[in-house]
Amino acid sequence: MKTVILFGSPRKDGNTIQLANAVSDTLKTRGGNVRMLYLNDLNIRPCQGCLRCLKNGSCKINDDMKDIRKYILESDLIVYATPLYWYGPSGQLKVAMDRSLAFMDEKFNSRVEGKKAVTLVTLADETLDSCEPILGMFRKTFDLLKISWVGNVEAPGCVGKGIVKDEYREKAVKLAESVS
Ligand SMILES: Cc1cc2nc3c(=O)[nH]c(=O)nc-3n(C[C@H](O)[C@H](O)[C@H](O)COP(=O)(O)O)c2cc1C
Repeated sequence: MKTVILFGSPRKDGNTIQLANAVSDTLKTRGGNVRMLYLNDLNIRPCQGCLRCLKNGSCKINDDMKDIRKYILESDLIVYATPLYWYGPSGQLKVAMDRSLAFMDEKFNSRVEGKKAVTLVTLADETLDSCEPILGMFRKTFDLLKISWVGNVEAPGCVGKGIVKDEYREKAVKLAESVS
């Protein structure tokens, strides 16, 4: 199984990486092919809303999204990993998701139908109701793209760096086992 991880945190030693690594390591141990994309290191310009991509699936902006799109199209599983920023995804991930309009066509048919998605979110709040907006966004997005949302982990209480509680790391491992 081929997996691409859209890693949306700017911190490679923070909290979100702990969930992403738990999933990545587990999938690799089980023979999976995993590519982690550190979106913060890539050149991804914001969508310009021209809608050209709906016609032919390609974007007029020549940047790293070209490769990201290729990796997504090649993958069976897409992992969306992000810290919660103002109840939504980080800007790094949101920009990549905006540019994913290229995965639709003019009749709103999906070019990624049948792929699977997993979402990983870390947040400072202790209460999971802070995740309602982001989970709603993921659900509507995957519905539209006809992607099957096979699992999610939200790790609350992440105030500081590299402090995801074991129970959430274990949840991420179990989730990866269940999809591989
Ligand atoms: C710009 C910004 C916005 C944030 N917004 C929220 C928020 O809305 N709710 C919340 O619980 N935590 C919020 N946080 C805290 C982070 O989601 C949390 O610490 C996360 O685990 C950081 O992930 P990282 O270590 O991968 O960077 C925010 C942090 C930053 C820097």
